[in-house]
Amino acid sequence: MAMASRSFLKFPAFIGAAFLLAAAIGGEAVSKEPLTDEGAEMTYNALRAAMVESYRAGGDDTAAVYMGWQRFNRVPFLSGTHGGRYSNIYGNAKASAYGLFEKGKPLPKGAVLVRDSFMAAKACLTGNVALGDKTPPGVFACFGPLFVMEKMEKGFNPESGDWQFTMIFPGGTVFGTTKGQGAENVDFCMNCHEAAEPDDFIFYTPEEYRPN
Ligand code: HEC
Repeated sequence: MAMASRSFLKFPAFIGAAFLLAAAIGGEAVSKEPLTDEGAEMTYNALRAAMVESYRAGGDDTAAVYMGWQRFNRVPFLSGTHGGRYSNIYGNAKASAYGLFEKGKPLPKGAVLVRDSFMAAKACLTGNVALGDKTPPGVFACFGPLFVMEKMEKGFNPESGDWQFTMIFPGGTVFGTTKGQGAENVDFCMNCHEAAEPDDFIFYTPEEYRPN
């Protein structure tokens, strides 16, 4: 994650996005409050509608619809590799074999996997989203980025197993997309995901969080 952190830190501090980025890498100013599985699900349920509104504000089609797709985790899980945030993984119909995990690879062209993220904290760098009695007392929820992988046609980008990686900030701004706008900003995705090359660049939901 060192590489990722360096590219994140290139952002000038006066840009609001810098605060999101700092949060995305677990910015020091946020003191994290560990949630129980139940608390994580409760927080997520309280946040979902506002999260979608925020992600889709830039007009991205996937951001608008992914919450209606199959979810491949029981409850949000804490991800060390995606900035110490709670995450959920979703897939469209073409990605349904993701549910077989290591036995489902490779996924076909048109498969889309999405990972959303939020952080539970005593305070958000981007302003507190107070959720009243819907979240555990003293805990606020901050949105994190939306991470998307889409399987493109063969030859699209052999280096990334023909996956297109995209990162969307809360608010809908696209930070980068493979072979498109801001492509260099998402090279770090591929650099880490290629460790899973034998599994079609997919890491899968941690075992203890897979649906039963
Ligand atoms: C340091 C390693 C690392 C980096 C960098 C990284 N990821 Fe991941 N990603 C993971 C791991 C590990 C998982 C599996 C879930 C978990 O254990 O957190 C994952 C899961 C995912 C998933 C769900 C599909 C799967 O592989 O199971 C998507 C979608 C995703 N990442 C997109 C991205 C995007 C887009 C970026 C860049 C903006 C990115 N990732 C950067 C390690 C990384």
